[in-house]
Amino acid sequence: MTIGDALKTGRKYLFGIAGDSADFEALCLLEGCLNKDRTYIHLHSDEELQPVQESRYKDMLNRRKMGEPLQYIIGECEFYRRPFKVGEGVLIPRPETEEMVQRAISYVRKQNKPLVVFDLCAGSGCIGITIAKECPQTKVYLFEKYDKAFNYLAGNISQNGADNAFPVKCDVLLGFENLKDIPKPDLIISNPPYIKSSELSTLQKEVRFEPSVALDGGDDGLIFYNAFSKKWLPYINDGGAFIFECAEDQPPIIAETERANGFFCDTIEDMYGNMRFVCGSRIYENPAGLFKIT
Ligand SMILES: C[S@@+](CC[C@H](N)C(=O)[O-])C[C@H]1O[C@@H](n2cnc3c(N)ncnc32)[C@H](O)[C@@H]1O
Repeated sequence: MTIGDALKTGRKYLFGIAGDSADFEALCLLEGCLNKDRTYIHLHSDEELQPVQESRYKDMLNRRKMGEPLQYIIGECEFYRRPFKVGEGVLIPRPETEEMVQRAISYVRKQNKPLVVFDLCAGSGCIGITIAKECPQTKVYLFEKYDKAFNYLAGNISQNGADNAFPVKCDVLLGFENLKDIPKPDLIISNPPYIKSSELSTLQKEVRFEPSVALDGGDDGLIFYNAFSKKWLPYINDGGAFIFECAEDQPPIIAETERANGFFCDTIEDMYGNMRFVCGSRIYENPAGLFKIT
């Protein structure tokens, strides 16, 4: 089979699961299989695949056809133009999270001083590592409970050379109080599990390959925000702030809780007009302004 044949076969094979993206997905899988970029693939369409490459490619196509996410099969995804290793046991970073990170980076830059940032429920580390790389004066602590995700997190810190990012293995539901030797935060950011337990079985096939512990936010989807409220936000340094990603129906509920706790809070829509973020500060009356992308 030639490289050109492999692309055509892949496109046909994946059409059922990937539809209009079948071309693109076949190309991505072939890039991963051959460890060559797309320019090479386009310039060498007559080159024969070796038997071992052909069988690896077919195996990748089969996995994809069974619904496994493309990023797991390739083992990597891009977030904020940086590579992050992903695979079984870790959530694949989402585009809306990139938007929250961009807001956090704007916030950090506006403060114009070294900040301590906490990324709670860090998974692959895409949030905290990006902030650490974009804002080298910050110290970023990334908190994750589960072994598989934690291993990806540690690997992604070193792969991205984020010397100012520090992984912490812990259960965030237990809070900050007993963690020793970690300074208090100026900014807390999180994309925690927030799907209601009863809705997990209704998720699309690809998402069901991702770990349920990365998705399950308890009966009302709010278990993590409630823990943050009681066990993390009280430790934010004076003048500090927080920003969370959540499901579309959650920002007003979270904001109301934090207003009762003495925060000024705003809800923020993502670029598609969906209500996806909530932010707060104890001293700035318009926290959304602090997180405006500049
Ligand atoms: C929605 S994923 C987000 C991952 C990453 N922050 C991102 O945006 O792609 C939530 C993460 O929280 C982790 N997690 C779940 N329960 C936790 C707990 N009790 N303590 C710490 N981390 C937890 C999961 O393993 C998962 O990596």
